[in-house]
Amino acid sequence: MSAKRVGIMTGGGDCPGLNAVIRAVTRKGMNVYGYEVVGVLEGWRGILERLSIPLDLNAVSGILPKGGTILGTSRTNPLKGENGQQVVIDRMNQMGLDALIVIGGEDTIGVAKSLYDEGMPVVGVPKTIDNDLAGTDQTFGFDTATNIVMEAIDRLHTTAESHNRVMVVEVMGRHTGWIAVEAGIAGGADMVLIPEVPFDLNEVCQTLRKRHNRGKTFSIVVVAEGARVAMEEDVEGSLVIQSTEKDAFGHVRLGGVGNLLGREIENRTGFETRVTVLGHIQRGGSPTAFDRILGTRFGIAAIDLVHQEDFGKMVALRGMEIVSIDLQDAVEKLRTVDMDLYEIAKVFFG
Ligand code: F6P
Repeated sequence: MSAKRVGIMTGGGDCPGLNAVIRAVTRKGMNVYGYEVVGVLEGWRGILERLSIPLDLNAVSGILPKGGTILGTSRTNPLKGENGQQVVIDRMNQMGLDALIVIGGEDTIGVAKSLYDEGMPVVGVPKTIDNDLAGTDQTFGFDTATNIVMEAIDRLHTTAESHNRVMVVEVMGRHTGWIAVEAGIAGGADMVLIPEVPFDLNEVCQTLRKRHNRGKTFSIVVVAEGARVAMEEDVEGSLVIQSTEKDAFGHVRLGGVGNLLGREIENRTGFETRVTVLGHIQRGGSPTAFDRILGTRFGIAAIDLVHQEDFGKMVALRGMEIVSIDLQDAVEKLRTVDMDLYEIAKVFFG
């Protein structure tokens, strides 16, 4: 056992359950393994600027039900600058870190993987409300987000029914439609549109007309922010974006597909339509029991990997078990929506 000073970092978008991981790593790291645990602040920016705080039992007391991350986060890509990789390695050495636990999604875990390739002692923990990381059956944060969206759909039903309206709900999901599909099934959505399957406006309106022709006076349409509108020849479809400006990992800011859809549905069908964009509400607030438990199990498994000096791994959920997989397997592709599940959602369309 050589790892003594263990860093823990949260990168990318915040999500409910991050604090459960931080708490579990700190408790087991200190109490069981006798490590010094250090919280790196604000994602990879904290490594570049050597920002950290000591974590002890007091620091992690009372954080389990809290959303967000007590360490702060950022979308900083430390590999972007000149000699980025070497700078990160130098900073980690200057901070005296014997190991670094990196909690993040595809971008953050991607950086962890490239550091491991250079021999750095890193372990990954998968988080994202989008649930799109490969190698794990679920990321924490997703269950909370799905429940928030389900509750929103339940509430929107009230107005939809009272006013005979179509209610369009735009939800997060940059590359994949997991939140849309699962919350759509749970909330009884009448249509769910996802990035994996470009949608045709005529078909959407046709389905809604059929529904209203059989006597229904309202409809709930859930659309993921990354869903693409297929127009004529453009079968791949186009994204609707808020800004073409790219973040450090090359992502544009999505948003607007709900408004486009709402406008088109109203124009084409004549059904009164309203649009709700749930946005960051989906990432906020207290984690569900599922996410607290998954985050805790991931945290314990991550510090165990550090203890075993089994680096270059990401903890993952397989069925009911926590396992570890190579970081490479987590980043080589995205985990897209299971089409069998989407078929189930489609049974209830229209
Ligand atoms: O990756 C999680 C996510 O919530 C995506 O669903 C969304 O597109 C993006 O983050 C929003 O990022 P930001 O918080 O930087 O606006």
